[in-house]
Amino acid sequence: MADVKITSVTKKFGDVFAVNNFNALIKDGEFVSILGPSGCGKTTMLRMIAGFERATEGEIAIGDQIVSKSDAGIFVPPEKRHIGMVFQSYAVWPHMNVFDNVAYPLKIQKVPADKLKERTEQALDLVHLAEYAARFPNQLSGGQQQRVALARALVAEPGLLLLDEPLSNLDAKLRESMRFEIKELQKKLGITVVYVTHDQAEAMAMSDRIIVMHKGVIQQVDEPIRVYEHPANPIVADFIGLVNFLEGEAAAGQIQFKALGCGIPANVSFEGPARVAVRPEHIRISKTDGYLRGKLVNKFYLGDSTDCRVLVGDTELRVIDRGAAFAEYSDGEDVFLSFGHVMAFPK
Ligand SMILES: Nc1ncnc2c1ncn2[C@@H]1O[C@H](COP(=O)(O)OP(=O)(O)O)[C@@H](O)[C@H]1O
Ligand SMILES: [Mg+2]
Repeated sequence: MADVKITSVTKKFGDVFAVNNFNALIKDGEFVSILGPSGCGKTTMLRMIAGFERATEGEIAIGDQIVSKSDAGIFVPPEKRHIGMVFQSYAVWPHMNVFDNVAYPLKIQKVPADKLKERTEQALDLVHLAEYAARFPNQLSGGQQQRVALARALVAEPGLLLLDEPLSNLDAKLRESMRFEIKELQKKLGITVVYVTHDQAEAMAMSDRIIVMHKGVIQQVDEPIRVYEHPANPIVADFIGLVNFLEGEAAAGQIQFKALGCGIPANVSFEGPARVAVRPEHIRISKTDGYLRGKLVNKFYLGDSTDCRVLVGDTELRVIDRGAAFAEYSDGEDVFLSFGHVMAFPK
């Protein structure tokens, strides 16, 4: 098992900073996700941990070993880092059956035949593919192929497992069940996992902590609940979940919204212009009370909730109601709104 220490790591491609001054300490046995939009540098960071990419600057240590330190010319090749890696594109070999695919890393290490068989069977068991050992990849579903890739990454018992969007080629239902499978596996093995994804729900469901990236730069490192409820800045608030943004003015325990013609009490630690984010599910809609008056523009039935657009002055707010709004309200109706949790950032 291994912790990962990343210190001031930067990667430039020409003039582009793919990763800019990345710092993180991933603890032994921890499940950490790197989350951010496409192109923000997630894969580049993961590939530097794996050793498929050289850092322009900075230091990476896995366990007690410094595997990369640019200014000292240290660079340990991937095969000596004792890691397992799974890619988005499964990357299983089509000409080998499931057993041989999974056994491959042990074969390279020249593990004796009886040990190789035992450990490969254990790894197949772990991902529920024991009965499929003789099949070829084209006889498997996408989910099963991804499990082959997972077993192959785990068979050499690495201290660190790196996963790069491993579920994004799977359909929605399978993706959800694989989330739990991977999480269970990680718990069972006590292995350290660094998981790259652009899917916030995936990161929230699986991670002990999430590293949110934007344009090569870390925006926040926190537990999922903190990232969602206390985003460090508007970029994180916008990327994780849905938000309404409002311009306001913070002063003396209040935020005034000029566009809405109202103020709300708020526990804000600064004074002056504020960018305020309110999640749709933190706005309550009512026929009788609330400090904002608006007009219900339209509403959409989503089964477990109703997705409403409410016009307050010139501002359209999105409101998610978990109650019976769809049945009780009509489009065009005058309504009252009140905010629960608001997130205010100085401008
Ligand atoms: N080999 C490369 N050569 C040049 N630019 C690259 C290379 N790999 C990645 N980049 C650039 O680095 C940035 C980060 O890419 P990447 O790490 O793949 O992002 P993500 O995985 O978050 O989608 C992007 O702007 C991408 O175009
Ligand atoms: Mg990527």
